[in-house]
Amino acid sequence: MPRNDIDWEKLGFGFSDVNCHIRAVWKDGEWGEFELVKDPFITMHIGASCLHYGQECFEGIKAFRQKDGRIAIFRPMENAKRMERTAIRCVMPPMPPEKFVEACDRVIAANEEFVPPYGTGGSLYIRPLLIGTGPQIGVAPAKEYTFMIMVMPVGAYYKGGMKPVRAVILDDWDRAAPHGMGDVKVGGNYAASLFAHEKAKHDGWPVELYLDAKSHQFVEEFSTSNFMGITKDGRYVTPDSCSVLPSVTNLSLRDVARDLGMTVERRPIPYTEIRDFAAVAALGTAVVITPVWEITRGSDVIRISDPDVVHPTLTKLYQTVQGIQYGEIPDTHGWCHEVSI
Ligand code: COI
Repeated sequence: MPRNDIDWEKLGFGFSDVNCHIRAVWKDGEWGEFELVKDPFITMHIGASCLHYGQECFEGIKAFRQKDGRIAIFRPMENAKRMERTAIRCVMPPMPPEKFVEACDRVIAANEEFVPPYGTGGSLYIRPLLIGTGPQIGVAPAKEYTFMIMVMPVGAYYKGGMKPVRAVILDDWDRAAPHGMGDVKVGGNYAASLFAHEKAKHDGWPVELYLDAKSHQFVEEFSTSNFMGITKDGRYVTPDSCSVLPSVTNLSLRDVARDLGMTVERRPIPYTEIRDFAAVAALGTAVVITPVWEITRGSDVIRISDPDVVHPTLTKLYQTVQGIQYGEIPDTHGWCHEVSI
């Protein structure tokens, strides 16, 4: 049962302490057993490769308390496979996807009281991490790794949930190079965005949008999430680029859009096309579907909608995906993974 000493309706997207996280160590060529650990601090060697050479990656997943009281994780196998791809790219030993999902189940079961009650709009955020913990001073992969999953109850990422936000393009900073690491989930991609992110926030934009690093002519993604536009004739359009993270939310929404009879296009999107969209949204585990009402690039201000107006297609996509996640709509794709408590 959810705890009664948490104000579930007031949750934002922030860290909070829970009972424990789960961890396993890889050494001598194999993964050790999972262990539930109460202490939220970790001790590691000062020479750990994650500290020096950024040998680390992470994931973002959510679990939902459904209408019938059960707890379901949304598509954990997709995140497990994405972390496997990221690990291989960073020369780290992947956590086998089945073991990854088992670890999600175990850490959620151990923190069941932190899964927000049905009807509050909250969820349990699941943050798996894989880091090089072996000492490594010459540039090379470490010989020891630690896999961890921490969980915490969360609400909306941007204040107001489905309330539209303004975005900015800052041409002085890029997120990821073509054939770099943009298509995998490494902390470095977020570190690369922090300076521009802080500048954007300081100047009044909660999120920045990146164009492709080579030509600055094509839309890539937001600092926190994927980009999607709805054309005036109702098509779902999202960028196809080798430096964009393949978002599980975007993948799922493309299926939802097709189920709703929409045409889905994954293709390069020129910056100049943005002004033709009837709606634009940021898509991701944390942000779900966040409408974007205005995009500024220097003196070019593209107004997509009124600040308080959410396009009905975005509302429909949002209600459908959240309906599946909270068990209100039949899960015809088999996306919800039930956690045994
Ligand atoms: C997520 O959506 O889960 C992410 O990892 C993105 C991060 C900005 C919160």
